[in-house]
Amino acid sequence: MLPTPIADFIDEYCSRGPARFHMPGHKGRFLPECACDVTEFDGAGDLFAKDGIVVDSEAVASSLFGCRTYYSTEGSSLVIRAMLALATRDGNRKVLAARNAHRAFLSAAILLDLEVEWLCAERTDNLLHDGNAAEATCYLSCPLTARQVAAAIDACDRPPAAVYLTSPDYLGGMADVAAIARVCREKGVLLLVDNAHGAYLKFLPVSRHPIDLGADLCADSAHKTLPALTGGAYLHLSPAAASRFGDAVKETMALFATSSPSYLILRSLDLVNRYLEDYPARLEAFLTKTDALKRRLTDAGWSLPYDEPLKLTLAAKPYGYTGDDMAKRLYADDVIPEFYDPDFVTCMLTPENTDEELARLEASLAAIPKRFPMEQTPPPFRLPERILSPRDAFFSPRETVPVEQSEGRICASAAVACPPAVPVAVSGEVINREAVLLMQYYGFETVSVVR
Ligand SMILES: Cc1ncc(COP(=O)(O)O)c(C=O)c1O
Repeated sequence: MLPTPIADFIDEYCSRGPARFHMPGHKGRFLPECACDVTEFDGAGDLFAKDGIVVDSEAVASSLFGCRTYYSTEGSSLVIRAMLALATRDGNRKVLAARNAHRAFLSAAILLDLEVEWLCAERTDNLLHDGNAAEATCYLSCPLTARQVAAAIDACDRPPAAVYLTSPDYLGGMADVAAIARVCREKGVLLLVDNAHGAYLKFLPVSRHPIDLGADLCADSAHKTLPALTGGAYLHLSPAAASRFGDAVKETMALFATSSPSYLILRSLDLVNRYLEDYPARLEAFLTKTDALKRRLTDAGWSLPYDEPLKLTLAAKPYGYTGDDMAKRLYADDVIPEFYDPDFVTCMLTPENTDEELARLEASLAAIPKRFPMEQTPPPFRLPERILSPRDAFFSPRETVPVEQSEGRICASAAVACPPAVPVAVSGEVINREAVLLMQYYGFETVSVVR
């Protein structure tokens, strides 16, 4: 069995019943989970120290992921800020980023004063009603080709520090990381991947994890698809990135992080290592069931446009409903999806879902009669013009205005709904007609603009 140094330390501490004159103030009482909620006293290590039980546990995680792995107790959000700080630490702050970036990327852009060039999908018309993911583009999915990334790098006045992708995206779209990584390597540009939704990809029969496909740095939320407590995440480095950045990782993570990391989360990350020992077999068996479920749904007329293995995203309109209506029906059966919007309903599946839960999902969907397809699609996206840097816009005096009055104004703070926390308009951009229509389509009422 793999060692679990953090859990062993905490469990032994709790079983001794010491007099706790350290933080947290609950002293191990108040809530049942408080017993294991400790802090950095002697022996407990420190998340950002160079040795101790956290480093020992990270070494176990590194062996499982086959690369240098570091823990975060503040989600991929912290990891994303840290990997961008690492990639741009030599002063080149230009980053080419796929437009469907999570708001953690934007907070990094503001904090680090990044020069962001957006990469948008080549097809900007929406073919969502066909359920054709290859061509469907919207603000959540941004399918890029390697050729497009190569052309964008060549078009830069000077080489960017990094290319930044989000894969898998919130709907389950996956980038061609291997091809894009080849291009980045040829051109000497780092490839950073927000793999918040894809920690499990490492453990598929053939790994589809970004580091195995050639990415240099990558952020995984352990809490999204593995059973870690909310907030548990990993920063992974390729061997080349580890030798270039290894010494600076902890210091850089600490720059953005709390000095009171949750030991409940650290303990869960530690125990996830042991869980992962027999996970590949469990994952494979689970995927046999979910693949069969997806096939039955397709046979019954559902459109499942994205191919991420542990996501089940239904295109609602080809089935005759809006995503909101469809989600209401699922909620009425106490089947709770991860996300829905006017077009899609997304369920996240893991081997922790029971057969009974999968059957409830299927039964709830089976009870929805198919209707004539709805034709309405999201308004097309047109990249707004940038007038200010994200940082200058964010720190400018601002006011909040109704979305319908925002056309022509400079966005001060990225307009996002959470989930999915992907912006329609980004700080520093002039809100164009298309952005107004998109914000209205996705239900935004107000937006913060530069005064
Ligand atoms: C694509 C994407 N990236 C990053 C994040 C941030 O991850 P975390 O919640 O682990 O901070 C999320 C959260 O939902 C996400 O969906």
